Amino acid sequence: MHDNNRSLLLNRTGTFRAETLGQTALHLVGNLCFALFVVGVLAFTIVAATYRADDPLLLPPSSSASSAKLTAFLTSSTNATFRPDDAPLRTGEDFLNSSISSVSPDDAAVIHLADLPNSNSSSSAASGGADCDAAAPINCADPDVFHLMMCATIESFRDVHFYRFGKPVRGGDGGGSCDMAWRFHPKDAKRAGFYKDYRRFEIARSPSCTYSIVKIGDYHTGVNARKKKKQRKGDHGATAEFVSKKTPSSSSQASDLLVVPVVGEAVNDTLPVVESESKFSSSRYLIYSGGGERCKSMNHYLWSFLCALGEAQYLNRTLVMDLTVCLSSKYSTTNQDEEGKDFRFYFDFEHLRDSASVLDHRQFWNDWALWQKKDRLSLHLVEDFRVTPMKLTKVKDALIMRKFGAVEPDNYWYRVCEGETESVIQRPWHLLWKSRRLMDIVSGIASRLNWDFDSVHVVRGEKARNTELWPNLAADTSPEALLSTLRDKIKDRRHLYIATDESDTSFFDPLKEKYTTHYLDDFKDLWDKNSEWYEETKKLNNGIPVEFDGYMRGEVDTEVFLRAKKQLETFNDLTSDCKDGGNTCRSTS
Ligand SMILES: *[C@@H]1O[C@H](CO)[C@@H](O)[C@H](O)[C@H]1NC(C)=O
Ligand SMILES: *[C@@H]1O[C@H](CO)[C@@H](O)[C@H](O)[C@H]1NC(C)=O
Ligand SMILES: *[C@@H]1O[C@H](CO)[C@@H](O)[C@H](O)[C@H]1NC(C)=O
Ligand SMILES: *[C@@H]1O[C@H](CO)[C@@H](O)[C@H](O)[C@H]1NC(C)=O
Ligand SMILES: *[C@@H]1O[C@H](CO)[C@@H](O)[C@H](O)[C@H]1NC(C)=O
Repeated sequence: MHDNNRSLLLNRTGTFRAETLGQTALHLVGNLCFALFVVGVLAFTIVAATYRADDPLLLPPSSSASSAKLTAFLTSSTNATFRPDDAPLRTGEDFLNSSISSVSPDDAAVIHLADLPNSNSSSSAASGGADCDAAAPINCADPDVFHLMMCATIESFRDVHFYRFGKPVRGGDGGGSCDMAWRFHPKDAKRAGFYKDYRRFEIARSPSCTYSIVKIGDYHTGVNARKKKKQRKGDHGATAEFVSKKTPSSSSQASDLLVVPVVGEAVNDTLPVVESESKFSSSRYLIYSGGGERCKSMNHYLWSFLCALGEAQYLNRTLVMDLTVCLSSKYSTTNQDEEGKDFRFYFDFEHLRDSASVLDHRQFWNDWALWQKKDRLSLHLVEDFRVTPMKLTKVKDALIMRKFGAVEPDNYWYRVCEGETESVIQRPWHLLWKSRRLMDIVSGIASRLNWDFDSVHVVRGEKARNTELWPNLAADTSPEALLSTLRDKIKDRRHLYIATDESDTSFFDPLKEKYTTHYLDDFKDLWDKNSEWYEETKKLNNGIPVEFDGYMRGEVDTEVFLRAKKQLETFNDLTSDCKDGGNTCRSTS
């Protein structure tokens, strides 16, 4: 009977977005101070500039002083909206409030111990009775085993909420282990989105076939449970692949409709293909060609890319994009610009592909070559960025190509979105998420710290050496100063994650007397040769290993920091020096 309960899950619906609009606003405002460190005003400029009443990601005009400030900032100059900054950019998913766990309807979906189906009724008798064969491999499909594994999991991981448990499957070869996957959300997390973990459970069995959990493996050890299994339609109860809380009217697909990332779920970011000639030839395309963004900072690239994508959406055209990325020297270990990177190393192409109309340029040009003549596909060339998207709405040609010359800054793509276009083109910020493969590393680090750690972000590097602009930074971020600043804020013996650009982490050794310190490089195994990340990115890269580069490091470091329970920033929390040096913080605060 309990099998029926197992087959259903929370009823999340499309109303999610509307409900959370107001909360998103709160979230944005609340996060403003923090965001200043991460991107300066950039992300918020974008948010404000692209606000539409029906878009839940964006900042409503009513939300207080900071939005007024942004508006003023925006209207003061169109050119000033792009601010180069080396810090990893906030992306769309960052602006989704975590109503998943903080708002009441969703709390109902959290699985607690008391919710688990009672297992010591009939099934227990069956498995513990005549059928008991203590020598056989553990039957991972046994409801008792499942129940036990769920209980052990809920009891072991106190700082996360569970939303779904996958049915256990056979673990290692010995027959004494089972693998199980689950979907969770950290209790205190401020953002929307789920995480997936799968672990290997070592299970012992008594002669009378009662089970006990000997050990729960580390993060992502339960590889056999990793695959996302499709729920077979028309089957009920017994074939359900997971347990989640029942809501009678919901379907198993309901929660997947939620547009939130699920970190840890298998990524399928294969390039889209056009199914047929007629499909190809009846579609309309936009491509940006050339331009000065190559090898510029990632933020510059994104600012430009989102302008192109915004224009494509405005014109109802498919954006033909080049997924190859040139990594700027500022993030590379060689200190040289590096060609041959892939958009998918850094961003979630699956999300982009599934929620917008995009096509890789190689595929596009192949098809174009095949059918252009036959189907009389025509090209409309635009060589001046001052030709606004609004002037292109009447163009009927299959392809609009914007060509950019060699002269900076007029050859920057984002110039298309300046001026009067700024109020028309919506940069589709919500389509851009960070790579879930990178976020999986973040989740791995946070999981190893049991989602129960504090963090301090310590900026040193160039800035600490430049005493003219940052007179106090070096002293304020010394280990002694840190110890004294943290004393009142972070309890002794806490796990402390130090996100920093200081390359010699032994510099912070004095902090060990009070805290258990952790640094990004302590978790190297999550991206080195034997890691999932390494295997997956290598596959994506035609078998060539991918380097965990400076941009990825910065992104992961920042995201781990953001998942700490207490977060202390360099600027404001550790020093009164301004982020941008001199007296610049006066003007923005
Ligand atoms: C998200 O919404 C909840 C519910 O109103 C609110 O309490 C919470 O502060 C918001 N989260 C953030 C990070 O602002
Ligand atoms: C934008 O800035 C560039 C370079 O600083 C300048 O040449 C250009 O005139 C500016 N454009 C506008 C619209 O302010
Ligand atoms: C299940 O077992 C526990 C203790 O082993 C017992 O307290 C509980 O009443 C049992 N429940 C059912 C439904 O038999
Ligand atoms: C990946 O996604 C594409 C497009 O949605 C689909 O055609 C393909 O079958 C998927 N591949 C796998 C292995 O699921
Ligand atoms: C794009 O499509 C929408 C909805 O179908 C329509 O309202 C809009 O006018 C179209 N825009 C252009 C430029 O064709």
